[in-house]
Amino acid sequence: MNAKSIVKITGLTQLIMSNVIVKGDIVIDGTMGNGNDTLFLANLVEETGKVISFDIQEKAIMNTKQLLEEHNINKQVELIHDGHENIEEYISDEISGAIFNLGYLPKGDTNLITKSKTTIKAIQSCLKLLKKNGIITIAIYYGHEGGEEEKNNVIDYASALDKKLYHVMKMDYINQKGTPPLLIVIMKK
Ligand SMILES: C[S@@+](CC[C@H](N)C(=O)[O-])C[C@H]1O[C@@H](n2cnc3c(N)ncnc32)[C@H](O)[C@@H]1O
Repeated sequence: MNAKSIVKITGLTQLIMSNVIVKGDIVIDGTMGNGNDTLFLANLVEETGKVISFDIQEKAIMNTKQLLEEHNINKQVELIHDGHENIEEYISDEISGAIFNLGYLPKGDTNLITKSKTTIKAIQSCLKLLKKNGIITIAIYYGHEGGEEEKNNVIDYASALDKKLYHVMKMDYINQKGTPPLLIVIMKK
């Protein structure tokens, strides 16, 4: 483990996922954004696996396409221009993991934010598709308007998951001021 992985929530997500996701796996990026998590997952699953990524914004699709081209990745990624609340319309295969990165597109329209109703529907879909020992990570950025409500609703939802079926963790930066992001990790038993 590289100690710097804990400096950022994205590093922590990658640290966890890199120990779980292997070549050939099918995984979901529920919030494609600029494509960083999609690229990361594509490198883990390699050409025999599949990353299926969702975003409601054309800009996210364009940025992600460009990032993947720069890294010569084209085979194992499917970019879907639709909300993650519709995941089950596109996927019925068992998945090994899913990444969510809540909030707004960095350097994009700050009004286009993830919202708890659709976020929770997407998490529910991923839990249905998730295989035993699979992991879902949810990085919650909540400093923007509407962010606090989404954070609370997602935490309430995750906290109520049956402990016989799931391990659920919340990781917080507890010595920072303001609204540092936090990470929820769900593992299916
Ligand atoms: C914090 S950004 C994601 C950053 C991304 N993981 C990356 O590596 O750059 C959140 C993204 O969620 C997207 N989003 C908002 N509502 C969504 C929905 N219902 N379904 C899918 N994506 C959504 C936004 O358009 C935005 O691009």
